[in-house]
Amino acid sequence: MKSIKGIILAGGTGSRLYPLTLGTSKQLLPVYDKPMIYYPLSVLMQAEIKDVLIISSEHDLPKFKKLLGDGSKLGIKISYKVQFEPNGIAESFIIGQDFICDDNVCLILGDNIFHGDEFISNINTAKIDLSNGYSSIFGVSVPNPESYGVIEFDDKNNIIDIAEKPDFAKSNIIVSGLYFYTNDVVKFAKKLKPSERGEKEITDINNLYLSSKKLKLIRLKSSISWFDTGTYSSLIQASKYFENYEKKSGQKAACIEEIAYNMGFIDNSQLNKIANSMHNSEYGNYLLKLTLK
Ligand code: DAU
Repeated sequence: MKSIKGIILAGGTGSRLYPLTLGTSKQLLPVYDKPMIYYPLSVLMQAEIKDVLIISSEHDLPKFKKLLGDGSKLGIKISYKVQFEPNGIAESFIIGQDFICDDNVCLILGDNIFHGDEFISNINTAKIDLSNGYSSIFGVSVPNPESYGVIEFDDKNNIIDIAEKPDFAKSNIIVSGLYFYTNDVVKFAKKLKPSERGEKEITDINNLYLSSKKLKLIRLKSSISWFDTGTYSSLIQASKYFENYEKKSGQKAACIEEIAYNMGFIDNSQLNKIANSMHNSEYGNYLLKLTLK
């Protein structure tokens, strides 16, 4: 069976968040107590994807390397590639083609955050679909669909089209930034023409799968929270949500070290080593407590 490689796309200019992103990458901004990229990385790790490529700009890539290294501390493998210009989300598959090789691939956008107990069952459905040759997208209901890739349905609830940021949305169900694709995605990405805004659009990839009847829509359960941290408000909303969740539950969300430990990627002594390297912080102390359980 083909394995699933993981890609986190963490480039772009972050211009919608200026001046927050003038000095750093958007995907390194804090979301409550950890850098934003921890959240998408935690999704890949929970999906048991241990071979991950991070794509970012030439300027920002060294910062991600400094943060996450080669992944060995977490018992996974992380490699890096530059996207020289933000030529579109679908360019990831061309930049990552040697990395993807003959495998299937899961792409997650570096600014997309998913949280909820039932999320894993959604991911497992996508993995099963993939093993049967189907690619999956994850639909969410939002009040402002025009800002996203919007799904149009027929009267039997079948998808008939996906439109990128249309003037008038045909539904309020949008495509979130997590995609499970068969290996065909590399071929599809190569044949895409840039859109009017000059980008290789992920929506065009989804429509290619749709027209070959190989696309499944997984609707995120209502108990799952989804954030696209593209605006000042959604960024602070996400931080407040996780502060509230962590304080109430006493647990951390998207704690990549804890996930690595629970998934068996690292052992107790490695977790202890990481915890000690951060022992001055509340985060480090949380990890330390885990090693004592
Ligand atoms: O968040 C879900 C939405 O993501 C989907 O509904 C849309 O179909 C999809 O096009 C995308 O829309 P956005 O407007 O959110 O895309 P944005 O340009 O903000 O890029 C998303 C992330 O990917 C962001 O963190 C920057 C990064 N990116 C984007 C482009 C275009 C890159 O690293 N390189 C790029 O070339």
